[in-house]
Order: sequence, then C-alpha cells, then structure tokens
Amino acid sequence: MSQNNVQPADGKLGILIVGNGAVATTFMTGVFMARKGLAKPIGAMTQYDKIRVGRGADKRYLKYGDIVPLASLDDLVFGCWDVYPQNAYQSAIYAEVLREKDIEPVREELEQIVPMTAAFDHNYAKRLNGDHIKPCHTRWEMVEALREDIRRFKAEKGCSRIVVLWAASTEIYVPVDESVHYHLADLEAAMRADDRQRIAPSMCYAYAALSEGAPFIMGAPNTTVDIPAMWELAEKTRMPIAGKDFKTGQTLVKSGFAPVIGSRCLGLNGWFSTNILGNRDGLVLDEPENFRTKEVSKLSTLETILRPDLQPDLYGHGNDEDTQYFHKVRINYYPPRNDNKEGWDNIDIFGWMGYPMQVKINFLCRDSILAAPLCLDLCLLSDLAARAGRYGIQRFLSFYLKSPMHDYTVNEDPVNNLYQQHTLLKNALREMGGYEADEELD
Ligand SMILES: NC(=O)c1ccc[n+]([C@@H]2O[C@H](COP(=O)([O-])OP(=O)(O)OC[C@H]3O[C@@H](n4cnc5c(N)ncnc54)[C@H](O)[C@@H]3O)[C@@H](O)[C@H]2O)c1
Repeated sequence: MSQNNVQPADGKLGILIVGNGAVATTFMTGVFMARKGLAKPIGAMTQYDKIRVGRGADKRYLKYGDIVPLASLDDLVFGCWDVYPQNAYQSAIYAEVLREKDIEPVREELEQIVPMTAAFDHNYAKRLNGDHIKPCHTRWEMVEALREDIRRFKAEKGCSRIVVLWAASTEIYVPVDESVHYHLADLEAAMRADDRQRIAPSMCYAYAALSEGAPFIMGAPNTTVDIPAMWELAEKTRMPIAGKDFKTGQTLVKSGFAPVIGSRCLGLNGWFSTNILGNRDGLVLDEPENFRTKEVSKLSTLETILRPDLQPDLYGHGNDEDTQYFHKVRINYYPPRNDNKEGWDNIDIFGWMGYPMQVKINFLCRDSILAAPLCLDLCLLSDLAARAGRYGIQRFLSFYLKSPMHDYTVNEDPVNNLYQQHTLLKNALREMGGYEADEELD
C-alpha cells in the first residue's frame, strides 16, 4: 500500500482549544481516560470505523489508522483559552457532564491544563462575564497575542504540529460583508483598523492559527472561516479549514432522516424542530443575536436535501411564501436539563394521493457526549489533511458539521445529505491512503 506521500504522524500533536467549557473538558477527559484504559472513545470514527479499500478479491475493510498515518491518542497534548481562569478539572466539575468517578482518575492531567487569557469582546457574547481576557486594544493586537500564545505553547510542550479547535461560545451573527470579508488584504486592513463590528474575535483566532501553520476547526456556527478572505489565507498558508458547527444531535438525525423521505419520493409539508437545553451554551443561545447565528446554520440542512426546484410536487408547496415546505428551528434555555438536551422533531409528510402523515422524533441526548468524539475526529483528520498536503476547504469533513463549507461566490451547492458526506469522507481517506476513490456522488 502506498501512502500517497502523507507525512508520518511523528512527534506530539498539540490541540489548542478555544473555550474550556462542557465540550472541551468532556473531550479532554475522555482522551485521558481512554489512554489509561478506563473509558472507551465511543463514537469516534477514527478509533472504530472500518471502511472498504480495494475491489473484488482485493477488497478489505480497514480502520482509518491502517489506511493513513493518524496521530495516536498518546501523542496528544492539550491547551486552551477561556474568559474564565478555572483549570480543566474545575471546569469539568462545573460543567456537570461527567460523573466525578469519570473525572477523578485523570484529575492531575486536567489540573495542568490552565487556560490562557481569551481574545474576547463582551459584545459578542453578552451573557459571559469572565475577566480572564487579553488586554488588547485592537483586533490586530489580538491576532499578535494569539500567535505568540501558539508559538509559546508549541515550544514549551515540544509539539511538532498544532491544531486549533473552536469549542467556545457561539458569537453574535456577523453577516458576510463583501467589502471586508472577500479579500485577505481587506480583512487584514479591517483588523488593523480595529473594525469591531465586522471582525469577530473568532476571526482573530482563525487568522492566528492559519498564520502559525495550524489547521483551524470551527465547532460553533460563527461566520469566522466561512468567508473568501479566510479561504485565501488557508490557500496561502497551505492549511486545511472546514465547515462549521458540530453536527451532533438534531441536525445529525435530520441529515440522516431527510434522505429517507427524499429517496422514497414522499412529500414534505413542514419540519418543526425544537430543543430544550440548560447548559452555558443554552444560556448564551438564549440571547437572540447569538441564537440567530445558530438558526442560520440549523436551517440550511434541509434545503439542499429536499429541493423544491427539482421536485415541486413533493417539496414545493408549504406555507413559506408558497415556495417550499415550512421549516422552523427553536432552542429554549431550560436550566433543569443542563447538558442533557432534548430535541423534538415533528415532521409533516404526505404520501400517495397527498394523504398526510406525521413522524415524531424525540432525541434525549447528551450534547457534550455527542460532541467529544467529533472533536477528536476533526482534530485528527485535519492534522492528517495538513500532512497530506491538502489545504483550503476540506469538503470531506462536512460529515461532522452542520454547515458544510462551499464556495458560495460561484453558487456551489453544499452537500448536506449524511450518506453523501460519508462517501466524501471515505473517498478522501482512500485517496490519502493511496487507494482508488471509487464511489461517485449521485
Ligand atoms: N455540544 C454540542 O452538541 C454542540 C453542537 C454544535 C455546536 N456546539 C458549540 O460548541 C460550543 C461549545 O459548547 P459548550 O457546551 O462547551 O459551551 P460552554 O459554554 O460550556 O463552553 C464555552 C466556553 O467558551 C468560553 N469562551 C467564550 N468566548 C470565548 C473566547 N472568545 N475565547 C475563549 N473562550 C471563550 C466560555 O467562557 C465557555 O467557558 C458552543 O458554541 C456550541 O454552540 C456544541
């Protein structure tokens, strides 16, 4: 098997996480526990999934690590930034996602992870009041301070490579503005001019990461890297970027179930999704401007799977200006549930001769338990992509994200269908492993 010129995963891989909250601490605790053989990394495809390579008599099913060189869990080193100073142990206890018996065995490792001061602007997350913040006067100063953090961490921990993962709060909605977000030179000028309305702190993290030769993964629905100027930076620095917003609970179910409706040519009148959630993420999303960012991301999923333009009889007559089915998404902050989110989906479908039917899906999930394995997969696979010389938009990572990255400036359609996304993922692994990518996307 040739490995198609993928550099080996030698040395330590530093994972720098923006945010030291529920998702980040659940991810780190799980990795430490798995290393000690005290827990299993369930849900992480990089650790379990086996895909087919070769054909006919040569057909084999291999784990990802047997196809491509992946960093091992033992080689991961963690660091983070947060607006609160608590270390990862304190933060894991505060988050109340994991039981103490699942945290205590790795208390020492977690206590050593002390957040660096955050690049933060209170206007972007008004419900947060932490003051563990960089004393920066401009956005450009934020970039420089973050670059310095990355360099220092890499040297101090002796890492050969870094990945930066955003698992921090959802910022307020930043609409794409062509005059600032389309060209790298304009973006840099806006950072230097301290344009606080159009340059979110998350853009400073992304800019710093890519400039320091680190892939950047956006786990929240923020605009951040979803702009042509960042694509340009990723091309220039030859670093991978992907879509945004971890596809964990309701949207995972949606992008998996919508193809059931579509492939059987059933009709859709409406899809109403609601959630109750009580963790700090829910608190931040209770602010309408922050929820707007999430709403845009969650709404985009159905449009490219069930298309009114292609099937007007099936998807073209809802009550949304009579052009398509009705699609609504709500998140309600409800503290008693903490991290245990409950998602309800009511799906109004219709069949033969237009007769209506309903599907109800009630997902009682655990937000961070679903997000942690995605964090691991996204970090390992974006590090792999960088070593394979893949840079710019990585469409194969769409599988993990609610908003797949696509070049909207040339009207490229994003791939939202979960099964097509899985094919993209498998093909990318085959190619990087030196095998033929042999499944066409329909
Ligand atoms: N868990 C899921 O299923 C899921 C799915 C999709 C997206 N997400 C997103 O992942 C993110 C993390 O979720 P969570 O439950 O861990 O939230 P959380 O509130 O527990 O943790 C977020 C942390 O980020 C910190 N933070 C905010 N802005 C920051 C900044 N500029 N720099 C550094 N730190 C900053 C906050 O202080 C907080 O500690 C959220 O944006 C959420 O919307 C989660």
